[in-house]
Amino acid sequence: MENERKKRILSGIQPSGSFTLGNYIGAVRNWAKLQNEFESLYMVADLHALTVRQVPAELRARSREAAAMILAAGIDPKESILFLQSHVPAHTQLSWILCCNAQFGELSRMTQFKDKSAKHPDNVNGGLFTYPALMAADILVYNADLVPVGQDQTQHLELARTVANRFNNLYSLTFTLPEGYITKEGAKIMSLTDPSRKMSKSDPNPNSFILMNDDRDTIIRKCKRAVTDSDGAVRFDMAEKPGISNLMCIYNVFTKKSMEEIAQEFAGQGYSEFKLAVGETVADALSPIHSEYTRILADKTYIDEILRDGAEKASRLANRMLSKVYRKVGLYQL
Ligand code: TRP
Repeated sequence: MENERKKRILSGIQPSGSFTLGNYIGAVRNWAKLQNEFESLYMVADLHALTVRQVPAELRARSREAAAMILAAGIDPKESILFLQSHVPAHTQLSWILCCNAQFGELSRMTQFKDKSAKHPDNVNGGLFTYPALMAADILVYNADLVPVGQDQTQHLELARTVANRFNNLYSLTFTLPEGYITKEGAKIMSLTDPSRKMSKSDPNPNSFILMNDDRDTIIRKCKRAVTDSDGAVRFDMAEKPGISNLMCIYNVFTKKSMEEIAQEFAGQGYSEFKLAVGETVADALSPIHSEYTRILADKTYIDEILRDGAEKASRLANRMLSKVYRKVGLYQL
């Protein structure tokens, strides 16, 4: 019976403003594909967002927007459990226990901690430091088998495994050791203006990213302006032609055409034809998601209902794990 259980998958995304095309291709789009195959939990990591300063009203709005975007991207609340991190208190409760089992040295070595500390030297807070323990709790509280994460989060996932393993050795087998789940295609979409960097909404240059909310003309304009090279041939070569290769990756995701097919399609044509085709393809693909997003976002009652239901289901699973952990570490329970 046990081996017939569907594997469980958990992932999260921070509600930091509108999603980019990179977030969609690299994360949320895959969530929608995975939900049939796995028992899926998807979460808006609103507590993680607090590790950098937020405008309260904006954080609130963005959390709901993030949920609406996840739904618009095809997450079916009948298939997946969708919830906000702060709605399931067991995450923070478990994170304390995990904090007590994560070493100062381990947390100090996290690249993201070092990067963010350097970026916000005026706010190197305790939450930024213990961020990976909360993330470990997000995962371990559900005994998730698989965790779809971007490259930048693999070190945190590794720490979650280390802490889980340490706990299991100290207190007897409790946690499943989670595996990363990296999808091959379009895993990492790069900036349109500097293809050596990841597409990121925190980039000060808005031409470097496409937002899920950008209108058709904006999407096409940004693609037309994308940085390329002077070689003139549409050919996939990450090292020599990172800009063109990035656009080819994006085009590949939405057309399913292979790199060779794309190269053939645009053989003998200039970059401008290719860029226009990429822009139009992206705009066409995002347009239904955008209308769906607008429709869902306008229906607060609907979103709240899904989030309430998600929080309830998730809490039921998480609380069971939490009480097991509390018992194992010796907390006196009534
Ligand atoms: N830290 C992740 C990010 O910023 C978001 C996240 C929070 C997450 N908890 C998680 C991802 C648990 C996977 C699993 O991208």
